[in-house]
Amino acid sequence: MASLTRTLPASWYCSSPLYQLERRAVFLKAWYLLGPITRFHSVGDKVGYEVAQISLTACRMSEELRDIKVFDEKTGSEFKSYITETGLLFATISDQAPSFDEFFPDLKPLIGTVDFTKLPYRRSIKYEGKFNWKTMVDGYQECLHCQYTHPSFSVFYPPTFYTVYNHKNFSQHVADPNKADDGLFLYFFPNCTLNVYGGGMSSFRVCPTEKPGITRMEFDYYHLESGEKFEEYFKFVRQVAMEDYELCEKAQENLEKGIYAEGILNPVKETGVAFYQQRVLELVCAQHETETESKPSAAYERSSNTLTVSHLVDPASS
Ligand SMILES: [Fe+2]
Repeated sequence: MASLTRTLPASWYCSSPLYQLERRAVFLKAWYLLGPITRFHSVGDKVGYEVAQISLTACRMSEELRDIKVFDEKTGSEFKSYITETGLLFATISDQAPSFDEFFPDLKPLIGTVDFTKLPYRRSIKYEGKFNWKTMVDGYQECLHCQYTHPSFSVFYPPTFYTVYNHKNFSQHVADPNKADDGLFLYFFPNCTLNVYGGGMSSFRVCPTEKPGITRMEFDYYHLESGEKFEEYFKFVRQVAMEDYELCEKAQENLEKGIYAEGILNPVKETGVAFYQQRVLELVCAQHETETESKPSAAYERSSNTLTVSHLVDPASS
C-alpha cells in the first residue's frame, strides 16, 4: 500500500506563508490560458486579468487576428505569450516562466484537433468564494462527486466512461470517448480550465487572493447563439458551477476546522488530483529548499512526504 498517494495536508489550504511559497514556486513560473483569440474581437480590444496578485492586460494590436500582446499593468513591459494553431491565447505573469513548449511539451497535438475559435464570446462573470484555490482544483480534477453533486450534468455526461489523462502540466478529461468535441474538459496547471460541453464552451480561472481561504472565480462563456439558446446553455452550466461552489465552501470549512486533515487518494478515480497535487508539492518543496539553502538555521521538517507549514515564516510578520 506504500504506493498510494496521500493528499496535501489541510494546513496547506489554510496558511498564508504556504500560499506565498506557492506563489513563488508555482504561479510565477507557470503559463495561463487567457482565452480563445475570438475574445479579442476588434483592434484595440483589451481584457484585464489578475493572477496571483499580478495584473496584466491582453490587447488586440492590429487587423491581424493573431496580433495580441500581453502587458504587465505595473511596468508596461510585455509578458511572454503564445497563441496555439487552434486559437488559444496563453500568457505568463513573470519572466521566471519557462518557454511555452517547455511548460506544455505535449499539448499541441491534443488541442490541435478542436477549433476553439468557432464559438463567439458571450459573457464573463466573476465572484469570490470562501475556499482555497486548491479546494476548487481538487473538485475539478475528479468526477467521483459528479453523480451526487451534479444530477443534471450526470444525465448527459454519465461518469461511467469518465476518464482523466494526465500530461505534463495539463490534464484531459473525457466524458464520452465517442464524442471528441463534446464533454471535453481541459485543466491547465495550476489554475485554468477549458470546458466544451452542453453546446457551448466555458473557461474559468481559479484566482488565489492573498487570503488562503478566499478565491476569486472568473468565468468566460462562448456559444454560437446569443439569445434564448445561449441563456439555456448558461443556466445549465451555471447550475453545475454553483453546485461545485457550495461543495468547495463546505470542504474548506472541514479543512479549516480540522475535520479533515489528510488522507489517501483513489488510485483509479483520483489520478487527476494526485497528479496536480504532487506537482504542487514537488515545486513548493524545491522552492523552499532553494530559499533555505543560504540560511541553514531556518530549520524545517518534512513529515511523511510534505512540508510542515508551522515551520514556514510569514514574510509579512517577520
Ligand atoms: Fe463538480
